[in-house]
Amino acid sequence: MELIYLDNAATSLNKPQCVIDAVVDAMKKFGNSGRSACSQSLNASRVIYEAREKIASLFGLDKASNVVFTSGATESLNIAINGLLNKGDHVITTDLEHNSVLRPLYALTKIGVEVSYVHADSSGNVNYDDFSKLIKPNTKAIITTHASNLTGNVLDISRIGALAYEHNLIYIVDASQTAGAFPINMSEMNIDVLVFTGHKSLLGPQGTGGLCVKEGIDIKPFKRGGSGVQSYLEDHPSEMPTKLEAGTLNGHGIAGLLAAITYINEVGISTIQNKEKALVTRFLDGISSIDGIKVYGDFGKEHAPIVALNWRDMDSTSLADELMEDFGIATRPGAHCAPRMHKALGTVDQGVVRFSFGYGNTFEEVDKAVNALKEICR
Ligand code: ALA
Repeated sequence: MELIYLDNAATSLNKPQCVIDAVVDAMKKFGNSGRSACSQSLNASRVIYEAREKIASLFGLDKASNVVFTSGATESLNIAINGLLNKGDHVITTDLEHNSVLRPLYALTKIGVEVSYVHADSSGNVNYDDFSKLIKPNTKAIITTHASNLTGNVLDISRIGALAYEHNLIYIVDASQTAGAFPINMSEMNIDVLVFTGHKSLLGPQGTGGLCVKEGIDIKPFKRGGSGVQSYLEDHPSEMPTKLEAGTLNGHGIAGLLAAITYINEVGISTIQNKEKALVTRFLDGISSIDGIKVYGDFGKEHAPIVALNWRDMDSTSLADELMEDFGIATRPGAHCAPRMHKALGTVDQGVVRFSFGYGNTFEEVDKAVNALKEICR
């Protein structure tokens, strides 16, 4: 049985060959970036710098040195949230968020940071007026995802960014589900900190990701340690990107990420986005005749390539297991680290089965997934 991989929102599986080649090549040629003048070290430094430049350009950030590499979105969000918020600050976020936003915020409430939530309705939508209503004199930041990892509902980040700008608030965006598949421009959208992961729609290796920080946004370091420069200082160096990076970078992974971004630039984000939209439309059309299927989220609005569904009251894990065992179809059931969104949808007990499509999927795979659901849900 051939695998049909529809769990791209968790991580993309079919990486372009150029990404795999770049990682292998880097493993043969890279020394430790910024730690020596030997050519192996310079090989790593050059590729890492080029990756910073490509990422800055992809996301509309002025300075490549304000691109910080981390192990992924979770680390980036921890750096941004802990490095910007202090006791007495108020922050606004939403029910759409992943635990990588929620848990750092819950922890900060214990030291006196106040958190307010813009609630989602049972379709996963927010009322944008709620953001302004929640602003208080001590509000420092707004943190939102770009797209829900559960339903795929996309937030209007330009609209939220404009509001944040008007009220002089820091706007942090978690682009885990959209970076590489949706156009994002920090400058045009008034985003101050953009968090990305490399291994989802950016098509890069796991263990890569980072944050892009607009000039003038001062994030306190979360990690301190080896930097390769100013070794006699007791403080960690204050220059970006070193300020927010410590220890050896994942040069091998970053080389793969650079190749992935080069590939995405060649294909074009609009080509990727259009294909993913077409895959979702075909899937939705195909399952529309199945009695008892409930699809979550709002497909009348902009949407990431995710379809979350249940069949009658069948447990989501049982449905996902049947899809995998009988048809070789990989999906993700359960809670998806998105507890507030599940509460809004009313799916805490059942969970949902999430189908998430990627550029590498085919229409034939979509048809097979539809037929599998038709067989299971008879
Ligand atoms: N955050 C990832 C997901 O949504 C792992 O599945």
